[in-house]
Amino acid sequence: MASKYKVVVAGCGGMSNVWIDYAMKRPDTEIVALIDIQLEFAEKMRERKGLKCGVFSDLQSAIEHTGANLVFDVTIPSSHFHISKSAMSLGCNVFSEKPLAETMEHCNEIVRIAEETGRTHAVMQNRRYDPRIRSLRQMVASGQIGNVGFIGADFFIGAHFGGFRDAMASPLLLDMAIHTFDQARLITGAVPVSVYCHEFNPKGSWYAGNAAAICIFEMSDGLVFNYRGSWCAEGAPTSWEAEWRIVGDRGTAIWDGLNPPYAEVVAPGQEEGQFIKDCIRIDPEMSAFERRTTGHDGCLDEMFLALEESRPAETDCRDNRYSMAMVLAALESASSGRKVMLDTMLRL
Ligand SMILES: NC(=O)c1ccc[n+]([C@@H]2O[C@H](COP(=O)([O-])OP(=O)(O)OC[C@H]3O[C@@H](n4cnc5c(N)ncnc54)[C@H](O)[C@@H]3O)[C@@H](O)[C@H]2O)c1
Repeated sequence: MASKYKVVVAGCGGMSNVWIDYAMKRPDTEIVALIDIQLEFAEKMRERKGLKCGVFSDLQSAIEHTGANLVFDVTIPSSHFHISKSAMSLGCNVFSEKPLAETMEHCNEIVRIAEETGRTHAVMQNRRYDPRIRSLRQMVASGQIGNVGFIGADFFIGAHFGGFRDAMASPLLLDMAIHTFDQARLITGAVPVSVYCHEFNPKGSWYAGNAAAICIFEMSDGLVFNYRGSWCAEGAPTSWEAEWRIVGDRGTAIWDGLNPPYAEVVAPGQEEGQFIKDCIRIDPEMSAFERRTTGHDGCLDEMFLALEESRPAETDCRDNRYSMAMVLAALESASSGRKVMLDTMLRL
């Protein structure tokens, strides 16, 4: 029987392994073609995975020859817009690696094409698919720490990649911060309003571009999100999920990105005028996310489920452009030295 999902995988580099392994586990999914601008990469991948599909160097031929209905875009960021546009125009749905695209104009254009063609376009934000961040989200959303006024994320890792990131102008903001900014949106449910960003390259950094940044985002409802990050911080690393502090008017939630989150909230029955109030610890329900797989597989499960249910995936392009706007506005602020408002960028 023919598979329901006939997939073209675009880009056969490192990350595509995870996507291909996932697709090969799904009984309703068949990889019908692998493409790469370097055809030999596609050929080697086909051999390595024991696939019998076609290999191509361009997307249009791959789709036309195979009758594919879904494209996995695992190419480099500068190719994402072109691949998404072609795939949707040729009738395919698209699941893409982050980032959605490299400019806000292109992100918005992808949303317009998805609407015009009626195709789905969803983005890989694997760090959302983690039972700990879901528990933290539930803790915040259920009001356990009260009305949230501040959220802070620290990300300090000494990462010696040695590849393209070492030469990028803004490796941290462009390649990594999308994850942390998207996590902040998930945890708070807030919409970004403005940002002031100072981006810099600390002494001793092995990156050519700016490997560190401090951002102050104003979010909806007056909430402030403070991001402090560095990719050239030796010693005492944070986790890749970042370290989080969320302060509400009844207490504070903490997540170090390694252990389960917890909160300390004001204990009931305290006297008026007490200088520092006694607090009690709350450990969250860890059942908020029992149903799903985690990481990349978790995000892919959600994308497929959304297609089944004819609804936008959680990381649909319409949602993801808010996280992208945070990255692109932070870059604009860093280069202009001014606070940047996000409303014009987000206008479709
Ligand atoms: N979600 C995550 O945690 C995570 C982690 C790493 C990388 N990524 C993302 O995954 C994507 C791929 O990263 P990677 O590390 O596999 O890169 P890579 O350089 O190893 O592989 C990319 C492949 O795409 C091919 N390619 C480039 N342009 C193409 C085009 N127009 N058509 C067809 N093939 C094309 C290249 O030849 C290369 O083989 C990037 O967008 C990156 O940001 C995400």
